[in-house]
Amino acid sequence: MHCRVVQFQQREPTHNVPVASLSRISRLPISSTQSPCLHFARALSRSTAPSGRPTKITFFSSKEYEIDSFNRCKNDKVEFDYHETKLQPSTVALAKGSDAICLVVNDKADAETLKKVKEAGIKLLALRCAGADNVDLKKAHELGITVVSVPQYSPDAVAEFAVGMMLTVIRKFHKSYNRVRENNFSLEGLLGFNIKERTIGVIGTGAIGLRVARILSHGFGAKVIGYDPFINEELKNDPKFTYVSFDDLLAQADIITLHSPLLPSTKHLINGETIAKMKEGVVLINTSRGGLVDSKALVEGLKSKKLSAAGLDVYEKEARYFFQDKSQSVIQDDVLARLLGFNNVFISGHQAFLTKEALTSIAKTTLDNVNAVVNGEDCPNVLKAPK
Ligand SMILES: NC(=O)c1ccc[n+]([C@@H]2O[C@H](COP(=O)([O-])OP(=O)(O)OC[C@H]3O[C@@H](n4cnc5c(N)ncnc54)[C@H](O)[C@@H]3O)[C@@H](O)[C@H]2O)c1
Repeated sequence: MHCRVVQFQQREPTHNVPVASLSRISRLPISSTQSPCLHFARALSRSTAPSGRPTKITFFSSKEYEIDSFNRCKNDKVEFDYHETKLQPSTVALAKGSDAICLVVNDKADAETLKKVKEAGIKLLALRCAGADNVDLKKAHELGITVVSVPQYSPDAVAEFAVGMMLTVIRKFHKSYNRVRENNFSLEGLLGFNIKERTIGVIGTGAIGLRVARILSHGFGAKVIGYDPFINEELKNDPKFTYVSFDDLLAQADIITLHSPLLPSTKHLINGETIAKMKEGVVLINTSRGGLVDSKALVEGLKSKKLSAAGLDVYEKEARYFFQDKSQSVIQDDVLARLLGFNNVFISGHQAFLTKEALTSIAKTTLDNVNAVVNGEDCPNVLKAPK
């Protein structure tokens, strides 16, 4: 097997922001969403699974919306077996006879599961997401199980959603939607403000942050400032963007939008102390990771009106609720319940990535990864065990 390995991406950054990698980001032309799949299908036709039979991939935690995108990439050289159930020790047997297991963020690939995977004769785990904190990479490595992931799928999807969320809370779309459905056409309480000429603070100026900054500065005419410990040269040279210190960003921004990864150094980046340094009436948008925000401090900030609104696509304890229909149950998480109770807070269930383009990109990269590993070809998305 000749796979190159890359370090698992949720590391502390050790380099300038990936300016070079930004130009490598595969951005799918909206008009040709089929082409990556065709590319994969062609690649797969050239290849053969070890015994000449189709490459069998067993999927766990399958959702209807992603099954469609994987099926569009399918040909007769590959066989898919979808299961709604999560991957865990007791469900590994469902994958017996497969060449690869395909899993997502809420599947559990701990030491016990991996042992069963090895016993089932499966040597490849294909994550169809970026993060791998649910996989014991060290154990996988010890057991000779290769783990691949999809490091990036559609930064545009998340950036566009973040801007939409910003408009929703500033212009109160969520309130007017509900109000008008009850024949209430009053405008009382719907006063918003223009984004043009406001100061927007972008925390984390990688692939997504860069796009948010561009949409807001070039599109809306906002003054965009950013903080990142690693300078993005492309943004640095943009006359409509200015890098500032973290504290200056907190002090100057009318809207703060988070786009940094969750690392030990970024956990609760937004907390009681940092909220105190923000402008009165600031708006917070988080489409990155819930753990970046101390949710209890956010509740206090909203109660005191320091924050005038918030848009949250992620929540630090989201695993218990997000991606599931909990409409028949009572929310036991009091902080989440409190956040849901604010009428100036808009919450979505980790939806920012969910576009046709992103799903196509996830399917294509996942299948390219499996194809490369099964055929002993170079695969840039193999994860290395942490030291
Ligand atoms: N809601 C969703 O559906 C969704 C989908 C994809 C990604 N995400 C989140 O978006 C995040 C950003 O994704 P990306 O593709 O732009 O990643 P990226 O790696 O391209 O950029 C992340 C940036 O954050 C910076 N950073 C690191 N530490 C920082 C700190 N202490 N303060 C400020 N910036 C810091 C990095 O230097 C980098 O420039 C991901 O980490 C992920 O958590 C969310």
